[in-house]
Amino acid sequence: MKSLLIAGNWKSNKTNQEARMWAQQVQLPVSLPEQVTLLICAPFTSLSVLQWAVGAQKLPLSLAAQNISKFDPGSYTGEINATQIAEIASWVLVGHSERRTHLAESDEDLRMKVKKANNAGLHCIYCVSDTEMKVPDMVDVVAYEPVWAIGTGNAETPEHANEVCAVIKQQASVKTVIYGGSVSEMNVGSFVRMPNIDGVLVGGASLDATVFSQLIASAIDAVK
Ligand code: PGA
Repeated sequence: MKSLLIAGNWKSNKTNQEARMWAQQVQLPVSLPEQVTLLICAPFTSLSVLQWAVGAQKLPLSLAAQNISKFDPGSYTGEINATQIAEIASWVLVGHSERRTHLAESDEDLRMKVKKANNAGLHCIYCVSDTEMKVPDMVDVVAYEPVWAIGTGNAETPEHANEVCAVIKQQASVKTVIYGGSVSEMNVGSFVRMPNIDGVLVGGASLDATVFSQLIASAIDAVK
């Protein structure tokens, strides 16, 4: 069985009460194949709640922050730094197109963020929307997410996504490249079956615990 990374990205959604309910409702495979990594990229505010739920319910789920400060600890009001994140999560998402667009994150900002993540021992998922975007060194996973496919219900074709992921894999010298953009419980199988797609980054379909549970089951089924 191939390795698979299934990452849910909650974006700026869920109160702590909602996060707790999601954790109670989600139904994950009792014995998760060791090749499969399940990840939730949660808002900073919910990471501790999820960390507690993962421990209490023994959920086979890793946690990721959706952003990281490019600075060291210190006088940077409002920033959450790598050391703080490393206490409550093992992964971090860097360079999501929504942050590039709405928060004006530059390539240099993102390079600094990857460096901080690395120094703190965090695994890094770096998002790009095409093959032109440069991927910094020391990234663990690249997520290919065409902007037009995000949140639109218009997913990329699995065949084309597979071709793009193959190019990224070669250019960035990373082993793991995942696809994101309108992945659902219905289409996830067709993506993860592709030889160069090693998983998915899921926004909307990760918010509902039942839908996300179905999506995970379909993805695992498709690569068995
Ligand atoms: P979507 O979002 O699944 O809702 O399209 C994906 C993402 O932005 O990571």
